[in-house]
Amino acid sequence: MKTHTLLMPLDMHLHLRDGVMLENIAPLTAYSFSGAIVMPNLVPPVSSLDDLVAYKERIMAAVPNDYFEPYMTLFYKNYDRKFLESVADELTAIKLYPAGITTNSEGGVSSFDIEEMRPTLEAMIELDIPLCVHGETDGFVMDREAEFMSIYELLASSFPDLKIIMEHITTKEAVEMLDKYDNLYATITVHHLLLTLDDVVGGMMMPHNFCKPIAKRPEDLDALLSVALEAHPKVMFGSDSAPHPQDKKESSGCAAGVFTAPIALQLLCEIFEQYDKLDNLQDFVSDNAQRIYGICPEFKEVTLEKREFVIPKKYSSVVPMYAGQSINWAIQGVD
Ligand code: NCD
Ligand code: ZN
Repeated sequence: MKTHTLLMPLDMHLHLRDGVMLENIAPLTAYSFSGAIVMPNLVPPVSSLDDLVAYKERIMAAVPNDYFEPYMTLFYKNYDRKFLESVADELTAIKLYPAGITTNSEGGVSSFDIEEMRPTLEAMIELDIPLCVHGETDGFVMDREAEFMSIYELLASSFPDLKIIMEHITTKEAVEMLDKYDNLYATITVHHLLLTLDDVVGGMMMPHNFCKPIAKRPEDLDALLSVALEAHPKVMFGSDSAPHPQDKKESSGCAAGVFTAPIALQLLCEIFEQYDKLDNLQDFVSDNAQRIYGICPEFKEVTLEKREFVIPKKYSSVVPMYAGQSINWAIQGVD
């Protein structure tokens, strides 16, 4: 049987939630990945040292072994330097959400006033804390990410020493930014390497393919594939796996978020093999992230096998993308 082994796979953008959801979901990521950047958009968001340390402890308690490293993030506010110094050792990045732009982002940034943000961003540079950004405006849904490019340019040029990660990019405009500014990086999800808007609303409406940012046009998909498949040195895998209970997805007012954590590596193998680029997958799912973030996870290997895998219809209360569909790669030991 054909196999493919990945060393220390990392998910650089993950929603683990809290409570029972966390307990059900975290082990699935810990099974396939060495570590993950954990998003802070809880209710209320993670914005103090105590919250962050306590959340990390709850995550560690939910995973079955200690080979999994949750890389913690704080919810961006205009924090002062003293506070940032006190949390710097406990976190890996700070995540900025424009106010109200996505799930649980109401307390986010409402104006990108560079002078107001300067003390925080300069302290982040000195403390070597990267800034992860959900880059969407409140414009027309298909244009939100492209419209945000001017804000990325403003941030990147005003703070050339700040490491800025454009999270879950979905457009060719964002791909073009990578080679324009040394300090801009990006994460790419697996669903945005597979879906366009047609897969969300082109036929029957597919709530489990609905997320923010929404999947875009075929030419955007091609641009994302071109940098992911080459493992462009400034891109990393970040699933943006965002579990919501089935009744919150299959309802009037469907919550945004695609759940892919337990199937992400299998789908990535399938995509990279299809384009004859399996050799680049290691860089995309781990090595680029280790270099960009300067992290060094403990040794862990995950072997995938080329055999039929039927994606479960549900993982506890959550329906994954492609539920019930059959794919060509499976994780060793998972039927
Ligand atoms: C995320 C969530 O549910 O927390 N939803 C999503 O559609 N991606 C939030 C986010 O990352 O935008
Ligand atoms: Zn997210």
